[in-house]
Amino acid sequence: MRPVRARAPGHDDPVPSVQIGRKESFNAAHRLYDPGLSDEENRRVFGKCANMHGHNYVLEVVVGGEIDRASGYVMDLKFLSDVICRRVIREVDHRNLNTDVPWLADRIPTAENLAVTFWERLRTELPEGRLRALRVWETDKNWAEVGDRI
Ligand code: NI
Repeated sequence: MRPVRARAPGHDDPVPSVQIGRKESFNAAHRLYDPGLSDEENRRVFGKCANMHGHNYVLEVVVGGEIDRASGYVMDLKFLSDVICRRVIREVDHRNLNTDVPWLADRIPTAENLAVTFWERLRTELPEGRLRALRVWETDKNWAEVGDRI
């Protein structure tokens, strides 16, 4: 078999759309607690997650688009990493997500709410239509995703 040449598409070729991704991680503390409920009600709804505890979170971001003919990139992953770190990681790393992050203050910091909020903070900083999916891993077993592909 002839080897497949790794190269950017030529001018006569259709330009493939490709999805690429980047993972970043952060450590943070939270409790699942609704201030509008009593302690007893919070314990009933959230169980032991109502107590303060920490997670080693992983944030996975997928962007997509046509491969740039000149660079061979869909997007420079260093640029994507910089956006993720500036807009999310440096704001949440080693913080209490219930009290320390102004843009999380009005919501219970579940993985679902983190994913939705992170999506909005990244979407506005990336070229339009490029953000395809975002997944927040709270543990090795639990995750929440916005978008349609990881
Ligand atoms: Ni938790």
